[in-house]
Amino acid sequence: MTSRHFLSLNDLSASELKQVISRAIAMKAELLRGTTSSIMQGKIGVLVFEKNSTRTRVSFECGIAQLGGSTVFLGPAESHLSRGESIEDTARVVSRMANLIVMRTGAHERIENMARCASVPVINGLTDFNHPCQLLADLQTYMEHRGEMAGITAAWLGDGNNVCHSWMNAARILDFRLNIATPEGFRPDHKVVERNRSNIFLTEDPADAVRNASVVITDTWASMGQEDEQSERDSVFKSYCVDSKLMQCAKKDALFMHCLPAYRGKEVAAEVIDGPQSVVFDEAENRLHAQKSLMEFLLAVNA
Ligand code: CP
Ligand code: NVA
Repeated sequence: MTSRHFLSLNDLSASELKQVISRAIAMKAELLRGTTSSIMQGKIGVLVFEKNSTRTRVSFECGIAQLGGSTVFLGPAESHLSRGESIEDTARVVSRMANLIVMRTGAHERIENMARCASVPVINGLTDFNHPCQLLADLQTYMEHRGEMAGITAAWLGDGNNVCHSWMNAARILDFRLNIATPEGFRPDHKVVERNRSNIFLTEDPADAVRNASVVITDTWASMGQEDEQSERDSVFKSYCVDSKLMQCAKKDALFMHCLPAYRGKEVAAEVIDGPQSVVFDEAENRLHAQKSLMEFLLAVNA
């Protein structure tokens, strides 16, 4: 059995997290110079995706190819998972052939079961509960633009969702403050709140959350699987749109972040996401570099 997976940011210590991010920054520079490492030469990554994706799929496929390896992509309807084969048997079969697994799924316990039965490292490419690979890229992006995160204030606006949970873990691990503004009933999971309590502040007031913030973050109001709730959510979250008026309540040089896909005119105004404070495409690009660094780390610690 492999001992190290990446199902949550909590699977890395603070020093390992910083090491993965600084190596991601170095790998980004290496790619520009044309000197990418070939640590996945002869190795195969299997991408088991039970939900749609643009960035996660493309960044893992490109990243593994750049490292000399190859990928097999199993989309939502392509494997026997959608016909009832168990996660456990899938994990055992794929582990006999591949060197790592990236999984995107709904219920978090599905990826926990995959990791429990896999003998190769399993990487979380998003579950309904969290999205740690997104955070590797987001932390890298903040550090590239502004440096250390310890002691800063970040603000999360909107739904207390999977990406929010990963930001909460990041706040504790790197010791910054995360103000979270959500409507009543859309707060993050209470266990994640408890675990990270000393670094988070919950409010219903968006202006309160962004005061003194060095970075303002939001995400879609209706995540994958919540399409039926779209119109109800649009009305509940209406006052949580990150527009330029709200950005003016944050620090003057505050960054704007969004994991994408974004819905302009809903959770973010076009003037903000397409404006000078937005770093959303740096975040998207950094998925590539951060995950290459993560794969290098996992393959090394599991060797
Ligand atoms: N941010 C993100 O994970 O995007 P995809 O859903 O396109 O992979
Ligand atoms: N919260 C969003 C993130 C997409 C990358 C979702 O789960 O759909």
